[in-house]
Amino acid sequence: MPNPTTPKTYRVKNFGCQMNVYDGERMAELLADRGMTAAAEGQDADLVVLNTCHIREKAAEKVYSDIGRLTKVDGSKPLIAVAGCVAQAEGEEIMARAPAVSMVVGPQAYHRLPVLLDKAAKGERATDTDMPANAKFDQLPQRRRIGPAAFLTIQEGCDKFCTYCVVPYTRGAEISRPFKDLVAEAERLVENGAREITLLGQNVNAWSGENAAGQAVSFDGLIRSLAKLPDLQRIRYTTSHPMDVTDGLIAAHGEEPKLMPYLHLPVQSGSDRVLRAMNRSHTADSYLKLLERFRAARPDIALSGDFIVGFPGETEAEFEDTLSLVDEVRYAQAYSFKYSARPGTPAADMEDTIAAEVMDERLQRLQAAINRDQLAFNQASVGKTCEVLVERKGKYPGQWLGKSPWLQSVHFTGDAGIGDLTTVELAEAGPNSLSGRLLVPATV
Ligand code: SAH
Ligand code: SF4
Ligand code: F3S
Repeated sequence: MPNPTTPKTYRVKNFGCQMNVYDGERMAELLADRGMTAAAEGQDADLVVLNTCHIREKAAEKVYSDIGRLTKVDGSKPLIAVAGCVAQAEGEEIMARAPAVSMVVGPQAYHRLPVLLDKAAKGERATDTDMPANAKFDQLPQRRRIGPAAFLTIQEGCDKFCTYCVVPYTRGAEISRPFKDLVAEAERLVENGAREITLLGQNVNAWSGENAAGQAVSFDGLIRSLAKLPDLQRIRYTTSHPMDVTDGLIAAHGEEPKLMPYLHLPVQSGSDRVLRAMNRSHTADSYLKLLERFRAARPDIALSGDFIVGFPGETEAEFEDTLSLVDEVRYAQAYSFKYSARPGTPAADMEDTIAAEVMDERLQRLQAAINRDQLAFNQASVGKTCEVLVERKGKYPGQWLGKSPWLQSVHFTGDAGIGDLTTVELAEAGPNSLSGRLLVPATV
């Protein structure tokens, strides 16, 4: 392990989902509160936090190669903390396998990172993977200056236990953060520059809470309450589960103009047998019917999903059911993954595993279908005028990059600035982004 010194600069490296991005921001705030500063791009950091993901084998193994590669220009090792879902799942193993790591901290315990840092300053290695429900949020420092598009974790953990998935083990049971805390944090984010908030959780639509009068508030009620913040322009959420979709949420898409016309609703497979084996609690048909209802409420809604190919026992015909589902939905965007057996999950013990070449071939066919639809969706947007929230400067002088309501990346040149909600005519489409013409400059 490195020499015990007090670190002055830090770098947080996030992997995995947006919840890790949120957690990474909160850890950075904790470190800043201790007087540390973020290491400049390209400069060594005294402390590196690897905020890891355990969802697939490749993601998890990456941690060890990253630890091996972390070296300062003078050849010494920085202080290394491993946080996130690999920390939760394999804390002891990390400590045993990687002597360069001084601290291991789980996703529910990172508010206690300062305690671990104090121990590290004395040359002690320490692990904290406790899961005290909600405790961390009360002990984290205030939110600080933030970009125009901010994340807000409203719910953590998962009780769904899909047979392939580690999240219920790494993130623990499903818990909702209290309504008043979320309103307060959203207000802070907006005061600090956020114009768009994405509500985060593994199953955000399972969120429930109570308002100040003690009345029950459901997820769509939370959205409607946050929409009342005058300077908040846009609300998004991810991820939601088909099982927890309510009439209220579908209605909110038709009624609440600040709720963006975008829905990420993972399905995983188009085969009912595979869905049952995955413990998904929906069928291909019930999923398609849900999407129809969202489309009826908000005809221009952009749809997104997640897919797994090569789940144990998946036949060619069952895989083709997935392709048919994609053909029917015409996703604006979708993510697809090769099945990865995760230790401790029920699917890891299933027989009839699918050969790597078959998985590769299925993934390619699925991605070709998804890319075709993504390009078609972007091309169909050409000629539309929409609002673009500017998030950062583009590659070229005078160019800006932002997001359309449908979460497309849009670049344009002209008189604008970060955080502006500009009106842009979409002019040209590629598979991953569009270019636009600025019509009306800044409205905020
Ligand atoms: N809670 C969300 C997403 C969880 S993880 C949901 O259920 O909708 C993000 C995606 O990773 C999943 O939707 C799934 O497509 C993929 N995934 C999860 N476990 C996996 C595994 N063992 N192998 C391959 N992909 C996996
Ligand atoms: Fe994993 Fe399923 Fe929970 Fe999503 S719903 S996090 S895939 S167990
Ligand atoms: Fe990965 Fe944990 Fe998110 S396993 S996907 S970082 S919840």
